[in-house]
Amino acid sequence: MRTLARGPRRTAAVLTASAALLVGLASAPAAEAASPHRHRPVTLDDLARQHGRYFGSAVDNPELADTAYADLLGAEFGQTTPGNGMKWDATEPQRGVFDFTSGDEIADYAKAKGLKLRGHTLLWHSQLPSWLSSGSWTAEELRAVLKTHITQVVKHYRGKVFAWDVANEIMNEDGTYRENIFYKTIGPSYIADALRWAHAADPKVKLYLNDYNVEGTGAKSDAYYTLIKQLKADGVPIDGFGMQAHLALQYGFPYQLQQNIQRFADLGVDVAITELDIRMVLPSDATTLARQADWYSQVTSACLAVRRCVGITLWGYSDGHSWIPSTFPGEGAALPWDENLRHKPAYDAIHAALTAARS
Ligand code: G3I
Repeated sequence: MRTLARGPRRTAAVLTASAALLVGLASAPAAEAASPHRHRPVTLDDLARQHGRYFGSAVDNPELADTAYADLLGAEFGQTTPGNGMKWDATEPQRGVFDFTSGDEIADYAKAKGLKLRGHTLLWHSQLPSWLSSGSWTAEELRAVLKTHITQVVKHYRGKVFAWDVANEIMNEDGTYRENIFYKTIGPSYIADALRWAHAADPKVKLYLNDYNVEGTGAKSDAYYTLIKQLKADGVPIDGFGMQAHLALQYGFPYQLQQNIQRFADLGVDVAITELDIRMVLPSDATTLARQADWYSQVTSACLAVRRCVGITLWGYSDGHSWIPSTFPGEGAALPWDENLRHKPAYDAIHAALTAARS
């Protein structure tokens, strides 16, 4: 597949390619004779940029060794998120001993490819190092541990990431606080403090809360709405809400997705679709792939319809590199590219949704 270079040269090429698409095929024979590049593809990120959005894909460190995958990611997308490389077990494997090797590898890759970089994640109940999860802490001790971790990691990536998922998955399905080690030891004040410490370490970076099963309206999403409203009222630095969007055909499309994105935007925060994939029970067939394509289109259109929905990130872009088959045996086929990096109907549906909204 031919790809477009990044930067001003890339923008010019995109505009040329877009203009060629817009004027249709009337001049195609002449153009084809004049330029072998007439069919140069317009990428999903090219199209998203025309709306002032990005279109991205997460990447995990081992995937960088798959050069076909890493090169296509760098060419097609405008943003990336490390799948694991910036989590606590990677960045502070021993107390006070920081290791930025994996995160830096992704940051260097993002820089080389011209991708915006999302930091993921400063605190989560999962993938904590054992010194932390098995330790016995007083509230005061754990607050100090959390402050040190957030301060060191945010400072290290200052100027390199545009946004941080500060707190990941802090609510239960019924809208109560998840009883993670921070909640159990410190109480709910750890959330506002985490945001304040992140802001102190990098006043420019956008600070997000991020979770799954919050794309539609419901108890969990309502809990975030109430929390973010309160944080704003208290003057706590909160800039955005990340909707992971790990969807599954068998569980139905999120209820009132666009309205839900809009109500968070109306609170005065950005919204990002941060980890989009749409899995299904295997094997897939033409019907399920068409349904999946329609869902990808709907998510894309809903984001574009709300000005403060800043972008969409796939949680990996091909079925060959996806967390789903190992976590949900018998399910998969969740991404817009197949294992051989060929477009699936979902790719065409996203492309069409980005193009239709433009015109
Ligand atoms: O690092 C160990 C390695 O030492 C060991 O040899 C290997 C053996 O399996 O496991 C490695 O850890 C794995 C880790 O990814 C790094 O590759 C874990 O087993 C594996 O469970 C872990 O999965 C990650 C998962 O988060 C953990 O919950 C996925 O790659 C990652 O895509 C996924 O991402 C999360 C987001 O952070 C938050 N939202 C949900 C999303 C999907 O679960």
